[in-house]
Amino acid sequence: MKRGIFISFEGPDGSGKSTQIRLLTEYCKEKGLEAVTVREPGGTAISEKIREIILDKKNSEMSPVAEALLYAASRAQLVEQIIRPALEEGKMVLSDRFMDSSIAYQGYGRGLGDGVRIINEFAVRDLQPDLTFFLDLDPVKGKQRVLKEGEPDRLESEAMTFHRAVYEGYKKLSLIYPQRFVTVDADRPVGEIASDIREAFDRYVLERA
Ligand code: TYD
Repeated sequence: MKRGIFISFEGPDGSGKSTQIRLLTEYCKEKGLEAVTVREPGGTAISEKIREIILDKKNSEMSPVAEALLYAASRAQLVEQIIRPALEEGKMVLSDRFMDSSIAYQGYGRGLGDGVRIINEFAVRDLQPDLTFFLDLDPVKGKQRVLKEGEPDRLESEAMTFHRAVYEGYKKLSLIYPQRFVTVDADRPVGEIASDIREAFDRYVLERA
């Protein structure tokens, strides 16, 4: 059986990833494609517990390295328990964030550098998305959207200099991995963004068939 397609969604906080994943999942259903949707950090019982520790605002003393390792641990569990088995069964997997989030947030945002890529390659045993939709939104606008939605978590509460560095990190990743990164202007109505994503998705599925 052919391995399933692995698609990740990336972008700053407030860039609208969750909405777009929901819409692409519905589109896959309409086309009769079975899609498994996961979110990071989380997606398994163990990973959700790790998520609580990472995002809890009470954990203000957490060191950047501990933070990076916790994200990687949560990801390792999700890959072994859900993502890899689904791909091996030929299913499509749509992930709300993956390893690029760690490289952008911990590598660039926290300034931990290339070590973040190395621990993550170990954590996921070299699994890479086939396609990554980068929802490109200025972090100032992202922050405004997050604040409208309610109480921000520990990461969302970081200063704008952090979010700016994360955003620049994503831009660099899109240059490092041009073959899988699809940059989508996220400062537009939901329907227009969804339509661009569907188009790139259809093209990829057709090429791979
Ligand atoms: P979440 O509420 O899932 O935010 P979003 O809906 O924007 O994805 O919280 C995840 C937070 O964790 C978000 O601020 C991004 C951050 N994050 C990292 O810093 N590193 C990572 O590897 C991942 C997966 C997320």
